[in-house]
Amino acid sequence: MNNQKKGRESWGSNFGFLMAAIGSAVGLGNLWGFPYKCGANGGFAFILLYLVLVVFTGYILIMTELALGRATGQSIIPAYKKASDGKLTFVGIFSAIAPFLILGFYSYLGGYSIKYTVANLGDIFNANWGVKGVDGSEFFLNLVGNIPESILYTIIFLAITIFVVARGVDSGIEVFNKFAMPALTILLIIVVIRSCTLPGAGGGLSFLFKPDLTVFKGSGWITVLSAAGGQMFFSLSLGMGILVTYGSYMSKSENISVNGIVIPIADTFIALLASLAIMPAVFSFGMEPGAGPGLLFMTLQSVFNSMGVAGPIFGFFFYLLVVLAALTSSVSLLEAIISSFIDRDLIKGKANTRIKWAVIFGLLTMAEGILVAYDALGSNLPLVFGQPDILDAFDLIAEGILMPIAAFLTTIYFGWFKKDFLPAEIKADGSAFKTEGFYRFCIKFLAPLFTFFVLLGQINSFFQLGWF
Ligand code: PHE
Repeated sequence: MNNQKKGRESWGSNFGFLMAAIGSAVGLGNLWGFPYKCGANGGFAFILLYLVLVVFTGYILIMTELALGRATGQSIIPAYKKASDGKLTFVGIFSAIAPFLILGFYSYLGGYSIKYTVANLGDIFNANWGVKGVDGSEFFLNLVGNIPESILYTIIFLAITIFVVARGVDSGIEVFNKFAMPALTILLIIVVIRSCTLPGAGGGLSFLFKPDLTVFKGSGWITVLSAAGGQMFFSLSLGMGILVTYGSYMSKSENISVNGIVIPIADTFIALLASLAIMPAVFSFGMEPGAGPGLLFMTLQSVFNSMGVAGPIFGFFFYLLVVLAALTSSVSLLEAIISSFIDRDLIKGKANTRIKWAVIFGLLTMAEGILVAYDALGSNLPLVFGQPDILDAFDLIAEGILMPIAAFLTTIYFGWFKKDFLPAEIKADGSAFKTEGFYRFCIKFLAPLFTFFVLLGQINSFFQLGWF
């Protein structure tokens, strides 16, 4: 393979950048987290607050991160260092550790999606490695208990991720996303059509869209807001330097404020489509909508099992799209981890060391993934930080602490201190920055407020403090 780039890389086209940024955003968070959190938090009420947060904080932070990356032309750690004269270097370091921890368990879940795709494919051909005849929950628990197989699929998932990232920004990440994103959208639409035309699908539709605001009663709205906030950060890949990194590969002629709108709209659209693929089917087969994390790997597989001959075909389509969505996110995680190291070497005058760092960090995350698989969701390792399993312990540090702190300090610094730095970059392509007033207001007041609240909400839910 001789595509070792000489200098700093960049996107081949704005469309390619958009596919990659949307690909990072669309992942297990949309296909799994959104529908089940929506299910557990009153459906419509959750969607409503989610949308409010996307507009007032999500959009703002997307532009902030993209502009920070492009203004400095650097990836996370050097970008924060350069933009703050060293004061916020630690925020860059926080943002770089978070994806490293997330990739550790994301690859385990991505590996399971590959396993389910393969198993449903087996059922299409009546092979003996299918799911048929086994209840979804039993299939999942057997898999979790089978440590060698769990490790194997985690490794396969990471190997694909390393391969794509090692090929480079435009010839690896961009090319893969340009294929995977349209493909997954088509697969998702096929599953939505099947799900919404099942008998009894209406129950799922009214659950999702019938305005029922009773969950807001008393302090209920705080609980829903906190669930929606955490979900939004994860789903939009915020506070983890992903968009700083992707923004640093953008050309100065692209319009950040417009790209910044397209990304959350596409991400929310896919999350809603995923809910439309899942909830009507869950209701049609009389399953539990707020089933929690088991929704994707237990409930849905049981739904496919009950669909008769067509079940494995839809199961195959569905889990394949989950694999694609997970891979487009995992490549962004690995890229965000390694790009600071590549940049450091470039600054020192070395050649592009992409392949070396992709392999090194790929192997290190593999070690994390193996640990997660070995733990079998809390069966084999001692409890860390009071979390039920090592997966949650990784998630606590990344999503619960590093991510909201990094995002909060970013909004404070660029909202109160270096106020003109990012708006100037957003306008650098010469376009009118129509939402400038809105941006300045939100990054100063609303985004820090919401972000701080997300921090409290995460601590509250990880440690089950019952504050709200
Ligand atoms: N946004 C991705 C998802 O929804 C996950 C992700 C989080 C990717 C953070 C990168 C950074 O699944």
